[in-house]
Amino acid sequence: MRVLGISGSLRPASHNTMLLRAAASELPPRTEFALFEQLADVPPYSEQLDGNPPPAGAEVLRSAIAAADAVLIATPEYNASVPGQLKNALDWASRPFATNVLRSKPVTVIGASTGVFGAVWAQAEVRKILAAIGARVLEDELPVGQADQAFAPDGSLSDPELRGTLARAVTTLVETAREHDVSRTGGAPVSAAMQRAA
Ligand code: FNR
Repeated sequence: MRVLGISGSLRPASHNTMLLRAAASELPPRTEFALFEQLADVPPYSEQLDGNPPPAGAEVLRSAIAAADAVLIATPEYNASVPGQLKNALDWASRPFATNVLRSKPVTVIGASTGVFGAVWAQAEVRKILAAIGARVLEDELPVGQADQAFAPDGSLSDPELRGTLARAVTTLVETAREHDVSRTGGAPVSAAMQRAA
């Protein structure tokens, strides 16, 4: 069982990337976590460039999503919406539409911002985009507000209530992915099936 974490921030010291690392430590046993670290390499979307093969940065993104059983996205909020680099990556991931790598894939969206509302608008918009793409979007949300004060020195969330919400959200995501894999592959996680096929 592999969960891919995608942070919508390009900042090395991103609170959203920290949130993904905190989420990784709450994952159930026998779950592998991979952080997608190539968001800055995904080029601006162009239908002209979206051929066979697509640009390398887009292909790396699509392959990382395809190799995961579930995806966890942590989004900042820019001007009450989704950061452009994350929307752009989701546009690349959405093609070809009928067979895109996010289709039916379980995805949970969480987010952190330095404002008080914890990127709730951005999270709602990312869920809307994912639904349009055809992902299996889970309803959980995690608004981490005042993110510059939200983490303990060990990287965990300081607020026990938020930490509990995060743990429940990632557990639900993994359980959903397990059920999804059983119905789709007869029990083999997509990551194991891909290793066998390689
Ligand atoms: C922000 N920020 C912000 N925060 C918020 O709660 N609502 C908002 O609408 C915005 N808008 C916004 C626009 C732009 C261009 C920037 C650069 C920032 C603040 C934002 O939440 C903060 O910078 C976070 O720390 C960004 O997330 P990372 O990079 O720490 O993951």
